[in-house]
Amino acid sequence: MSRVCVLCMSVLLAVFMLCGAGPETAPPSYGERGSDLGLQVFQQVVKAKPQDNVVISPHGVASILGMLLPGAHGPTKRQLIGGLHYRNKGPYKMLRKLHKVLTSKTNADLVTIANALFAREGFSMHDAFLEASRDNFMADSRTLDYGNPQQAADTINEWVSNKTKGHIQNLVQPDMLDPALTRLVAVNSIYFKGLWKSRFQAQSTKMRSFTAGDGKSYKVPMMSQLSVYNMGVASTPDGVKYKVIELPYHGNTMSMFIALPSEEATALAAIMPHLSTTTVSSWSTGVMRQGKIRLLLPKFTAEAEVDLQGPLSALGITDIFNEGKADFRHLSSEPVHVSKALQKAKIEVNEDGTKATAATTSILLARSSPPWVIVDRPFLFLIRHNSSGTILFAGQINKP
Ligand SMILES: *[C@@H]1O[C@H](CO)[C@@H](O)[C@H](O)[C@H]1NC(C)=O
Ligand SMILES: *[C@@H]1O[C@H](CO)[C@@H](O)[C@H](O)[C@H]1NC(C)=O
Repeated sequence: MSRVCVLCMSVLLAVFMLCGAGPETAPPSYGERGSDLGLQVFQQVVKAKPQDNVVISPHGVASILGMLLPGAHGPTKRQLIGGLHYRNKGPYKMLRKLHKVLTSKTNADLVTIANALFAREGFSMHDAFLEASRDNFMADSRTLDYGNPQQAADTINEWVSNKTKGHIQNLVQPDMLDPALTRLVAVNSIYFKGLWKSRFQAQSTKMRSFTAGDGKSYKVPMMSQLSVYNMGVASTPDGVKYKVIELPYHGNTMSMFIALPSEEATALAAIMPHLSTTTVSSWSTGVMRQGKIRLLLPKFTAEAEVDLQGPLSALGITDIFNEGKADFRHLSSEPVHVSKALQKAKIEVNEDGTKATAATTSILLARSSPPWVIVDRPFLFLIRHNSSGTILFAGQINKP
């Protein structure tokens, strides 16, 4: 089990400072509601960075906002609930259940979700808020001396590094932590290490051409595997066709979906606006069929840091950032607002050099030569928890 097939993590933090200085018949699950907001954030980010590799955790975005929600009041709360499409009454029971499902031991893939609140020494948070974050999100709470920003940043960064097995370092810079005004830092971290259900053989990986988002051709290590996949051709409402392929992880609770425009000339941006949890479910229930194919997929690593204030504000979540308007009266009696919300995520998709197991060989005895699907141009990936519909990670890869 030492093989690293996919490794992703995301860490998100919100730094609080003192003020004065499309649903179908079945309602979407809470995993889907939050993931939809996260996917909208993703779309905002890729719009601003069409040529970059982008990785974010939609569920991470929803989690940190969900963690702040019990502290919010009035319009501040309404914006959060509205953005997350949560019901007004009692989303917490559902969120608690979701957190349990996602982190349950039955997930054969390793998902670690860790949340923490780092408060300034002496900053008093209401008990009900602390209880809510503990009960719903298993959040740790600790106190720090923000009077010493370097030491405070070191502690937060060490916590993050611990929770992401060393893969995310230096999330917080000391200059983000104003020694006089910082009251609270909220952190959400997601670490995921999945093993492919059907592994790639390292010796099949070859250097092949990939036409990157900049139009140039690059040689990249391309993994190759003959196997049975769920795949199909979907279409946006504008009639732009794109291929979707599902790569399940060991244990069958999570899958990676790869989407790329069918026509080489079509930009990835043409399918982005179509992306939602409803679209992703429609792939599984509608367009995908099992078929034997040879899949060629680049190995890739991507890391991105995203400042969430712009994207969230564009989606109507503005008050939490506004010194005069943020209303977190259920968090603390001191007036506070969010001065910084950023997320850092990283993904590694590969096979290691050891021999692939024989588990899938029986399906490899192709009688006729199967079609090839070659992911050799910019593509989209999503990592989804099947039963809850939660999107843990989403990314755009322009150049592996
Ligand atoms: C990180 O892990 C080490 C080793 O388990 C532990 O001693 C340390 O206290 C942890 N740091 C934080 C900030 O939690
Ligand atoms: C995913 O979930 C759906 C509905 O909950 C279920 O019908 C399907 O069998 C699941 N797929 C896998 C691969 O477990």
